[in-house]
Amino acid sequence: MERYLQIIEEAIRSNAWKREPNGLYEPIEYVLSLGGKRIRPCLTLMACNLFSNDLTDAVTAGLALEVFHNFTLLHDDVMDKADTRRGYPTVHKRWNENTAILSGDAMLVEAYRILSGIKSPKFTEVLDLFTKTADEVCKGQQYDMEFETRDDVSLDEYMEMIRLKTAVLLAASLKIGAILGGATDSQAQLLYDFGIYVGLGFQLRDDYLDSFGDPVIFGKKIGGDILCGKKTFLLLTAKELAHDKTLDTLNNLLSLEDKKDNQKKIDGIIEIYKVLGVNNRCEEACLTLNNKAVQCIKKLQLPDNKSILFTDFANKMVNRKK
Ligand code: IPE
Ligand code: IPE
Ligand code: MG
Ligand code: MG
Ligand code: MG
Repeated sequence: MERYLQIIEEAIRSNAWKREPNGLYEPIEYVLSLGGKRIRPCLTLMACNLFSNDLTDAVTAGLALEVFHNFTLLHDDVMDKADTRRGYPTVHKRWNENTAILSGDAMLVEAYRILSGIKSPKFTEVLDLFTKTADEVCKGQQYDMEFETRDDVSLDEYMEMIRLKTAVLLAASLKIGAILGGATDSQAQLLYDFGIYVGLGFQLRDDYLDSFGDPVIFGKKIGGDILCGKKTFLLLTAKELAHDKTLDTLNNLLSLEDKKDNQKKIDGIIEIYKVLGVNNRCEEACLTLNNKAVQCIKKLQLPDNKSILFTDFANKMVNRKK
């Protein structure tokens, strides 16, 4: 993993981000320099390396995926009114919303420019998957936003929304690496399925950390989802489990809209999550998804030392603190 991470950091550093006008490109350099876990390009390299020792095209694809991911974050932080990411001010806070929109757009374009550097004859296949995935992420993001103003969202609808906004990008990162490494269709598909389960667990964990994380480690403000009215696993499960007085209290807290009540709303709802044990339910759901992910890896029949890289990764993702 360390080696993959080094390769990716080097690829990010050596792409030429310093361009004119500075106002367009400096925010891009800024967001990419704040760190981030780089899990998507790591997955691309891991998957490729199962089948090939030549990682050149996988590094290119991984870089494109990471730039695409960071583009979604610039726009997502505007849409979610988030002030902090990776422990630093978000682009729209440090600059302004117009900057976050246009620098984000430039990153999407840059992601495609980078991707076009792939030399493999599999390029068209990779391009198609990348494009299909980007389209799905937009759909997921749209559902995420529409759910803010709905109060009849089911857990199934939520799972489909997070599959689209988050899981498909992790899955595609793996499948693209596998394709470039020369995997068979069924091997590439098993890695994709693994990525979907890991991605679903990954978003459940993200929802969990939005309420129960340490803001210094997590790098985002706690309670952002609550203030936006996000239909998270935590909230949907709480609504299912709450009765009588607890349900009344929950509904009263949810109806608070005045800014001065923000902290009261966050603290009150997190307290209800704890009382109902929703945090534990979330952790259990993550474990169930992880088991499904591990099943996909088993079906690949990899040698133990390779298999463990993937199962370890899945475990790390659902136990992560950031
Ligand atoms: C954040 O993704 C957006 C989600 C899908 C939850 P990451 O948690 O991978 O963010 P970074 O890149 O590591 O900061
Ligand atoms: C992230 O969902 C999904 C995308 C960026 C497409 P969130 O809105 O939960 O991600 P964070 O918590 O802001 O990183
Ligand atoms: Mg969002
Ligand atoms: Mg967000
Ligand atoms: Mg989140």
